[in-house]
Amino acid sequence: MKIAIGSDHAGFGLKEDVLELLKGTAHEVIDCGTNTTASVDYPDFGEKVSRMVSAGEVDRGILICGTGIGMSMVANKFPNVRAALCNDLFSAKMSRLHNDANVLVLGGRIIGRDLAAEIVRTWLDTAFEGDRHMRRLQKIKDIEDTVNGNGK
Ligand code: RB5
Repeated sequence: MKIAIGSDHAGFGLKEDVLELLKGTAHEVIDCGTNTTASVDYPDFGEKVSRMVSAGEVDRGILICGTGIGMSMVANKFPNVRAALCNDLFSAKMSRLHNDANVLVLGGRIIGRDLAAEIVRTWLDTAFEGDRHMRRLQKIKDIEDTVNGNGK
């Protein structure tokens, strides 16, 4: 899969850990920064990754800030983005099975490297269940279209 990843300064360390983990896989990874621990604004990096997912330029996105909250807020503003804040394994699994999440958001100040690695692996390897969940995702899409003035 083609995956874009981004963080702010609070997520930078964990982003580097996730990049290291993905290096050993077949995934193509695009690092959208930030590239230091110098203070930056998370919306700038959330926007970069979310735009790529929204436009279909990448299959998935991974975003990391301190809590994951700010990045989630940014990502879910973008059409076609279904971002899920998953700081635990169960959420990571369910966000794929039921929500077909295409952006994984992590809290760099909440979870450590090993748990993040398990979450990322699970999230990338779990397929969407489809079925009744398709109808629910279509309802989210309809709401998105209506709110953005593209409704039927
Ligand atoms: C940065 O201090 C922090 O506010 C940010 O990383 C994030 O947690 C916001 O939701």
